[in-house]
Amino acid sequence: MSGVYCADEKRYEKMKYLRCGNSGLMLPRVSLGMWHNFGSVDKFENMKDMVKTAFDNGITHFDLANNYGPVPGSAEENFGRILREDFKPYRDELIISSKAGYDMWPGPYGNFGSRKYLIASLDQSLKRMGLDYVDIFYHHRPDPDTPLEETMEALSDIVRSGKALYVGISNYKSEGMRKAAKILKENHTPLLINQVTYNMLNRWTEEDGLQDACEEVGAGMICFSPLAQGILTDRYLDGIPQDSRARRNHFLKEDAITDEVIAKVRKLKEIANDRGQTMAEMALAWILRKDRVTSVLVGSSRPEQILDNIKMIEKLEFSDDELSRIDEIL
Ligand SMILES: NC(=O)c1ccc[n+]([C@@H]2O[C@H](COP(=O)([O-])OP(=O)(O)OC[C@H]3O[C@@H](n4cnc5c(N)ncnc54)[C@H](OP(=O)(O)O)[C@@H]3O)[C@@H](O)[C@H]2O)c1
Repeated sequence: MSGVYCADEKRYEKMKYLRCGNSGLMLPRVSLGMWHNFGSVDKFENMKDMVKTAFDNGITHFDLANNYGPVPGSAEENFGRILREDFKPYRDELIISSKAGYDMWPGPYGNFGSRKYLIASLDQSLKRMGLDYVDIFYHHRPDPDTPLEETMEALSDIVRSGKALYVGISNYKSEGMRKAAKILKENHTPLLINQVTYNMLNRWTEEDGLQDACEEVGAGMICFSPLAQGILTDRYLDGIPQDSRARRNHFLKEDAITDEVIAKVRKLKEIANDRGQTMAEMALAWILRKDRVTSVLVGSSRPEQILDNIKMIEKLEFSDDELSRIDEIL
C-alpha cells in the first residue's frame, strides 16, 4: 500500500492564476479535464497519479461532467474515490466542476436543459463524487426546445440551494450567451464562465466574437480540446500510435489526421522550436495569448503529458512576427 499523499509544498509557485471574468475566483491557467482516461475501462492508479501530478504543480481546477467515462458516470465515481483516498485535506483548495446537458439516462428527463434534468443530474453527480457541492455547475450545451429562462432559473436555484458555488454554460455562442447572462443577472446569479472549444485548428470563437462577448458580460472563458485532442502535439508526427486517442476512441477519427494537417503541425513545430517550446506548449500558450482566455482545459493519458503541458506557462508572450507566421501556416 502506498503512503499518505502529501501535496508538494511549492505547488503554488509553479502555476499562474487569472481572475475568471469579473468574479472573485482565480483559475489556474492550466486545468485538467476528465472526459477521457478516467472511466471504468481505465487504470485507476494512472488516474490517481495524473490528479496528484496536476495538483503538485498548482493545477487546482478539475473538470467533469455527468456523462464522462465510459461508462457514463464512472469518471465522477473514480474522481470521488481519489478525493476520498487522498484529497480530503485539500477540498478547499480545489475547484471541481460538473455538467449536465447531454444524454445521461433513458426517457425524456435525462437530456438537454429542463429544470427536472439539471437538478436531478447534479444530485446524482454529487453522490458519485461524495461531495456536498461542486464549485462550478454547467449547462453542457444549448437546448433549442426548453425556454432559456427555465434552464437559467434552475442554475440560479442550484446556487441558492448551496449545491454549486458558481454556474457556467458550455458550447453557447455569443448571442445565446448574452441572453443567458441577462437572465442569470436578473436572478442575481452572475455567469461565471463559458466553456468552449478553441485551438489553432478550430477558431470559430474568433469569428463569433466570443472573446469580446465574454468581456462584455463579465464572464471568463475556458477552452476545451486545446490540443485538438492530441493533433497539436508530437503524437501523430510519425503515424498513429496504438495507444493514442485516434486509435482507441471514436471521438477522434483517424481520418482527421490527414497529411495536410500533419504538414501544418510540422511547420508550427519549427516556430515552437525557435521559442524553446514543444509543439504542445506553444499550442497552449497561443490560446492564452493577451490574457483573453482564462484557462486551457487539457486532457491527458499519463502524468508526463501534464508535466510537458504546464511548462508553457513560463513563456506565454508572442511577438507580432511569431503570430503572423502562425497565421500564415494556419
Ligand atoms: N464542454 C464540452 O462540451 C467539452 C467537450 C470536450 C472536452 N471537454 C473538456 O475538455 C477536456 C480536455 O479535452 P481533450 O481531452 O479533448 O483535450 P486535449 O488537451 O486537446 O487532448 C488531450 C489528449 O491529447 C494528448 N496529449 C495531451 N498532452 C500531450 C502531450 N504533451 N504530448 C502528446 N500528446 C498529448 C493525449 O492523447 P492520447 O490519449 O493519445 O495520449 C490526451 O488525451 C476534457 O477532459 C473535458 O473536461 C469539454
